[in-house]
Amino acid sequence: MRRKLAAGNWKMNGTRQDLAEVAALAAAHPAADCEVLLCPPATLIAAMAERAAGTAVMVGGQDCHAAASGAHTGDIAAAMLKEAGASHVILGHSERRADHGETDTEVRAKAEAAHAAGLVAVICLGETEAQRDAGETLAVIGRQLAGSLPATASGADTVIAYEPVWAIGTGRTPTLQQIAEVHDFLRLSLRTHCGDEAGAEAFRLLYGGSVKPSNAAAIFAVANVDGALVGGASLKAADFGAIVAALDAAG
Ligand code: 13P
Repeated sequence: MRRKLAAGNWKMNGTRQDLAEVAALAAAHPAADCEVLLCPPATLIAAMAERAAGTAVMVGGQDCHAAASGAHTGDIAAAMLKEAGASHVILGHSERRADHGETDTEVRAKAEAAHAAGLVAVICLGETEAQRDAGETLAVIGRQLAGSLPATASGADTVIAYEPVWAIGTGRTPTLQQIAEVHDFLRLSLRTHCGDEAGAEAFRLLYGGSVKPSNAAAIFAVANVDGALVGGASLKAADFGAIVAALDAAG
């Protein structure tokens, strides 16, 4: 059985005063059935990890560099995230692919660095609206998966997040059928990656893009959806807690 995962991506939001949300979330879900992960800006990782210690909340980064150290001003190595208290790192988010021109090859190198440092990589994939309109969704997802996933990646060290670019921060979501189509395709593609069904079944597949308390239960009822990667609605414990509760209820 795959353990469900509710992951929050705070993006470039949050200062120390927002760390109060961690205690509120932990208090609302002292022993959530699913895993709960918050990925704050790098400046808050260490302080958030301190607050989250002893609770069911895990902490992650939003990016890491592929190299272990060196002359890379402004970047952060995977081992540094780990030392700061992170257990996971989001990689290849569409905002990084768009804002920083990250390629599949770079995302794979970052995932390999994350694995070497003992972090779980949350690798993001997703089509643009133009690609969906052109009927290219599965081709794009297949290409991103094949290019971004390290050869040795397994369900133990890697989570895949399907985030349609046009659904991020827009309030728009794909139909449940569209989500199912992509998640079924991802599961099938992972069989090729793993060479066996058991390996493919071990990966958690998250949906991301305008997930909120009001639509979470319906999305979590879709086959092969093992949780969510949540942006805006993860900033407040009341909203994110409701999403965690919906995931727990989905069983
Ligand atoms: P929103 O939930 O704000 O649409 O963001 C989704 C996302 O990009 C999470 O990584």
